[in-house]
Amino acid sequence: MRKAAIILPTYNEAKNIEKMILSIMSVSDTVNNWDIHIIVVDSNSPDNTGKIVEDLYNTNRKKFKNLHVLHTKKEGLGKAYLEGFRIALEKLKPFVLFEMDADLSHDPKKIPEFLKKIEEGADFVIGSRYRKGGSIPSDWALHRKAYSFFGNWIIRFGFMKLRITDWTTGYRAIKAWVIRDSLPKLGNYTGYVFQVALLHNALISKARIEEVPINFKDRKEGVSKINSFQYIMHTLLYVLQNSSFIKFCIVGGVGFVVDFTFAYAFIHFLAIPKVLSNMMSAEIAIISNFMFNNYWSFAHKRIRRSSSLLFSLLKFNLVSSGSVFIQGAGMWLALNLLGDHILHIGSVEFHSWILYKVVIILFIVIPYSYIFYNKFVWKDK
Ligand code: GDD
Ligand code: MN
Repeated sequence: MRKAAIILPTYNEAKNIEKMILSIMSVSDTVNNWDIHIIVVDSNSPDNTGKIVEDLYNTNRKKFKNLHVLHTKKEGLGKAYLEGFRIALEKLKPFVLFEMDADLSHDPKKIPEFLKKIEEGADFVIGSRYRKGGSIPSDWALHRKAYSFFGNWIIRFGFMKLRITDWTTGYRAIKAWVIRDSLPKLGNYTGYVFQVALLHNALISKARIEEVPINFKDRKEGVSKINSFQYIMHTLLYVLQNSSFIKFCIVGGVGFVVDFTFAYAFIHFLAIPKVLSNMMSAEIAIISNFMFNNYWSFAHKRIRRSSSLLFSLLKFNLVSSGSVFIQGAGMWLALNLLGDHILHIGSVEFHSWILYKVVIILFIVIPYSYIFYNKFVWKDK
């Protein structure tokens, strides 16, 4: 029989923990092909949560033989999970590990659905509040709904993984190999951002990700420990530091400035003819974009050998010429199909080609370049 270990981090959950444990146990009684263990990781709760669990265990050691408690210092949710994972892997050797909140926000009745996905071959099952059939509490304050919703969208775009609908959820089932792979890289993420970092590392490890919808219920007892402001800052910083796509967009913006600066300097200071100046500045921008992308945006796939570097720069030039062609063809189509007008927004007047250009760049050139950089210039190893 395969083993599953459910990690329940607790900080001041005295009024919730017993109910949560019993509720998980009544579900695990109905699952007969999995040996389900519970590990409460209590960060020295002043309300005696840890002691309550130990007392429960001592009332009936036979009944609670699959219940374990780990006492840790209070160092954040991520740290509690890291320690819980480490001990679970070492002592129980489970096939799959669960993350769950201990405040009854996550319904244990969903556990069999997670296990089924694992049995079907998933490596990482996300309990999603944002896919069809899932939900967040309708009575959440508007700001909390907004944080959660926009936070998830920023991450989805940042990592260009639109298929994943809930990055921050705390209800998950993860195969042991994925956790073992990620553990060494997660030490710095001690807070709630840990959830984002773990999922991101699972993607890097090529884990197969699946989702099941969940209905997140607001806690009835105790208080949330999340510090929203800190959480949002950590999450934005994580995405900024780790997203190739956002870095690629920044490099694109820098390229634009480089192109203009050199063109201006060639024309006005060196009196080089305008056409030649623009061709030279464009190539300089292409080379600088290539370098920034190689050493920053796609650093995890960096091309190192100088011979391949030159060849890759040629390929990069080819992709860039593709953008020139797309812009030409796109503009020709737009002008012929939609016409060449003067548009008004309030009192501001502008030519329709400007709008066309923005749309072509945003919706065709950027996705095209990003995809070709990934598939053609910086291929996955
Ligand atoms: N051991 C330990 N140490 N447990 C902690 C700590 C800590 O420092 N901080 C929080 N916990 C426990 C809580 O006791 C609870 O069981 C669980 O972690 C979730 O904490 P809550 O404080 O209830 O979080 P929330 O409901 O506001 O946040 C939920 O949504 C987040 C994102 O939207 C959770 O599902 C989070 O996991 C999720 O990231
Ligand atoms: Mn909660």
